[in-house]
Amino acid sequence: MTDNADPFSLSGRKALVTGGARGLGAGMAAALVRHGAAVMIADIRADLGKATAAELSAAGATAEFVDLDVTNDAAWDSAIAQTIDTLGGLDVLVNNAGIELTGLMINIDPDDVRRMMDVNVVGTALGIKHAFRAMRPGGPAGQGGCVINVASVAATIAFPSIGGYSATKSAVDRLTRVAAMESGKLGYGVRVNCIYPGLVPTEMGMKLASDIVELGLAPDVGAAVAGVVEQTPLGRLGETADMADVVVFLASDAARFVTGIGLPIDGGMGM
Ligand SMILES: NC(=O)c1ccc[n+]([C@@H]2O[C@H](COP(=O)([O-])OP(=O)(O)OC[C@H]3O[C@@H](n4cnc5c(N)ncnc54)[C@H](O)[C@@H]3O)[C@@H](O)[C@H]2O)c1
Repeated sequence: MTDNADPFSLSGRKALVTGGARGLGAGMAAALVRHGAAVMIADIRADLGKATAAELSAAGATAEFVDLDVTNDAAWDSAIAQTIDTLGGLDVLVNNAGIELTGLMINIDPDDVRRMMDVNVVGTALGIKHAFRAMRPGGPAGQGGCVINVASVAATIAFPSIGGYSATKSAVDRLTRVAAMESGKLGYGVRVNCIYPGLVPTEMGMKLASDIVELGLAPDVGAAVAGVVEQTPLGRLGETADMADVVVFLASDAARFVTGIGLPIDGGMGM
């Protein structure tokens, strides 16, 4: 538990957020610092990532940036070492970095699928590996902690044009369960969970809407968005804060007995 015995507080926690330069990851980083954590933003976009970290620092938070391509095993070693060195530990990893390349199954492009496998699946698996090594007893951080993987509602429904992407997010779901099992059984002290965000109009989310139009699945972007809203019982698209607040919960002691779950944050779209 944290000092003030508020189980929702992240005071004193150190968090690393991949893909934190923009979009959902930037929102998660902001929410984590708002609840008391120090944050390392890790991304391939140094320009955006440094600006995002600087914005959080200007508001009084401890926020730094590290270059990290999540597909690169060696780069993980140095990003984790730099995080522990700069922030003084590592308690939370959010495996948020991801890419989405659309295409109908009849035209599936093997290079696109391989690229998504690399970033979304290999990148997440490497994050789990390096978090375990750092956080387990005797590791350089050594206090246990948690990993939160960002899957997608796409892992729970059949949405046309994202077959390859959906497969990678289903894989993230399975990685989560096996990692949670190994961590529990082997005494690493690291909880591992994943979230399934619904559609959020970030750059990625809006590109999906325009791709759907290009693929002939909707007449225009407005109709594409309306189609998703129609499938969503709560009747709207997701917002970055909807995702970030649940990440804060999963990172906190309020979720201390929660591991190996996939939590939908999709307004009911995937029920
Ligand atoms: N936006 C949505 O509707 C939505 C829905 C469900 C799931 N998601 C998932 O949420 C996560 C964030 O999505 P977003 O909408 O913010 O996307 P985004 O494209 O706006 O941001 C993704 C971030 O990840 C970074 N990134 C990409 N490849 C990387 C790599 N190899 N190493 C490190 N960083 C890398 C990018 O530079 C960018 O900063 C992704 O995993 C995505 O699949 C998004």
